[in-house]
Amino acid sequence: MLNVLGLAATALLVSVATVGALPKVSRTGKYLFTENGARFFIKGIAYQTQGIVISGPNNPLNQPSTFVDNLADSAACARDVPFLQKLGVNAIRAYSVNSSLDHDSCMGALSSAGIYVILDLTLPLNGSVDTTQPAWSTNTLDQYLRTVDAFEKYDNILAYNIGNEVMGPKATQAAPFITAAARDIRAYLNSISSSALVGYAAIDGPSAFVDDTANYLACDRSATSATASIDLFGLNNYEWCGDAANTTFDAMNARFANYEVAAYFSEFGSENCNPNPRVWTEIPVMFSAPMTNVWSGGLAFSYFSALSKGHEFGMAVVSADNTSITTNGDFDNLAAKFNAVSFANSPPQASATSVSPTACPASDAAAWPVATVLPPTPDDAACGCLANALSCVFQPPSPDYMELVGSLIGVACGLVLQAGGSCVDIMSNGTTGTYGVLAMCDPTIKLSYLFSSYYELNHRASLACDFSGNATLNSAAPPALGASAAATSCIPSPSAIFTPPAPPVLLPVAPHNASASNTSGSGSGSGSSQPGNGAAPRWASMGMGLGAVVGCVLGGALWTLA
Ligand SMILES: *[C@@H]1O[C@H](CO)[C@@H](O)[C@H](O)[C@H]1NC(C)=O
Ligand SMILES: *[C@@H]1O[C@H](CO)[C@@H](O)[C@H](O)[C@H]1NC(C)=O
Ligand SMILES: *[C@@H]1O[C@H](CO)[C@@H](O)[C@H](O)[C@H]1NC(C)=O
Ligand SMILES: *[C@@H]1O[C@H](CO)[C@@H](O)[C@H](O)[C@H]1NC(C)=O
Ligand SMILES: *[C@@H]1O[C@H](CO)[C@@H](O)[C@H](O)[C@H]1NC(C)=O
Ligand SMILES: *[C@@H]1O[C@H](CO)[C@@H](O)[C@H](O)[C@H]1NC(C)=O
Ligand SMILES: *[C@@H]1O[C@H](CO)[C@@H](O)[C@H](O)[C@H]1NC(C)=O
Ligand SMILES: *[C@@H]1O[C@H](CO)[C@@H](O)[C@H](O)[C@H]1NC(C)=O
Repeated sequence: MLNVLGLAATALLVSVATVGALPKVSRTGKYLFTENGARFFIKGIAYQTQGIVISGPNNPLNQPSTFVDNLADSAACARDVPFLQKLGVNAIRAYSVNSSLDHDSCMGALSSAGIYVILDLTLPLNGSVDTTQPAWSTNTLDQYLRTVDAFEKYDNILAYNIGNEVMGPKATQAAPFITAAARDIRAYLNSISSSALVGYAAIDGPSAFVDDTANYLACDRSATSATASIDLFGLNNYEWCGDAANTTFDAMNARFANYEVAAYFSEFGSENCNPNPRVWTEIPVMFSAPMTNVWSGGLAFSYFSALSKGHEFGMAVVSADNTSITTNGDFDNLAAKFNAVSFANSPPQASATSVSPTACPASDAAAWPVATVLPPTPDDAACGCLANALSCVFQPPSPDYMELVGSLIGVACGLVLQAGGSCVDIMSNGTTGTYGVLAMCDPTIKLSYLFSSYYELNHRASLACDFSGNATLNSAAPPALGASAAATSCIPSPSAIFTPPAPPVLLPVAPHNASASNTSGSGSGSGSSQPGNGAAPRWASMGMGLGAVVGCVLGGALWTLA
């Protein structure tokens, strides 16, 4: 009798869950709980078509440079959701989306199937904090916020990732920028009453590097009075291969035993030992104690075809006409293991009290050459004010100018130095914790600042504002105000930390036309009132994300997994 009642109650819960909104998930201490108090685990899969990789000396990590927005493809979602249900997943991870597209159909279909979404806010190429030349600047902030704004209306957004494998064992200088991004996205989410978690997906590597990365992202920054911590540490972990020993995770589990925020495997499922097909014996271990004392599940890699180092990680082969799916042995084994999981329900939420955050890892020249001081919040209004006040400005020759901006910054900085000037105002350094006054501004504004500095160092000779046709005089700039004075005036508090406002409306990218430059915002056919409100002048919008970037960060993950 009891059993029958139990079954009926379970069936009822399931059917309610498939028609109503998904329960919100939040973090208490180091664990995740649904709003009805049950412990929550991520039992998911990566759901992202692999982007196109253009290999070459400029692309040592073989990062893809294009992306497919799978969550905007309603036909594909309708095709795939039944397969995701067969797998028994409760979450997918998408690595890049285009915030200007419509995601209602996919997000709705996933929600109806009880599937949450972990969404990376990054885009390929310039749409992420860069590994080797990191900055946390208005263009990246606004791209991230636009994606948040596009997805906040869905009940099944579980988390936003602010980066994937941005730091590497020998490239840690991005850590302060990633952490500042977590701080500012968290503040924005709080300001719009969003309960979504903020995450980061780390590459695995030497234990000291992984531990420092994890601790840096979650450590105690109460002294700086800003919450600058992730909620969810993801580790792309490929340690377990084939039918590995049950002790495989023990050492790592011990290392994370006292970690203060939730942790999970943001990718798993190694091909290194050529298991053919993968047997997924890590899953029962991952979803039982002692792993569940520390970890909150994981995401298998990958639903779609994903080739890396000669290994195929995909489990669902899409037909040539995109209408049907053929699954493989990996898929069947994964479904069997995922469907056999039942979630542990301890500790109860009431006793999952916060773990005291640990001190931030000290900067160490050899092991962790990372400053503890974080960069400021990128300030669209201040950067826009500066852009309008500069004497000689970048004129994008085409809508796809971000690569050109990168190389012109190098050229212009060299010329400024030769002319006796300095580039420190645009530079930042995560090792020393020095952040130039306009390091937080869009790269096009940094470039205009260098152009203006050079022009002014050359006594405003008109020939000095040309740069092979890439620069033009800004007749609207206050006469004789130098670039440096303009920066001081527009950016009076260069280390300010604040809750970022909603991002400026994205204007169509049009080549800058200085002679037409005025506050009515040429090129905006959208009737947006934004250029007139002074908060985000046209320049602040020009370099922003979507028009400027192409390509994808589909995880250095794909390319770097061991
Ligand atoms: C490994 O752990 C799983 C889950 O706890 C268990 O079912 C299995 O029997 C264990 N295997 C061995 C060889 O101990
Ligand atoms: C199939 O979908 C992919 C995106 O996932 C797209 O690039 C491709 O053009 C589609 N092919 C057909 C035949 O529709
Ligand atoms: C944008 O990315 C391209 C390609 O990786 C790079 O060459 C360029 O310097 C970047 N531009 C900026 C402004 O960071
Ligand atoms: C940052 O400063 C360190 C230490 O002075 C230096 O070695 C490194 O080259 C600097 N990085 C950048 C990007 O300037
Ligand atoms: C801008 O600079 C690039 C790189 O130096 C150069 O190839 C190009 O001709 C310049 N002018 C224009 C209008 O693009
Ligand atoms: C720039 O704006 C001026 C004044 O509105 C206009 O006459 C000129 O044709 C524009 N140039 C370009 C390249 O759009
Ligand atoms: C600014 O541009 C608008 C529309 O392009 C135009 O009507 C207006 O006269 C311009 N104002 C100035 C001061 O140039
Ligand atoms: C997003 O989609 C719009 C509309 O199709 C397109 O114009 C834009 O280039 C896309 N952005 C990116 C980053 O792909």
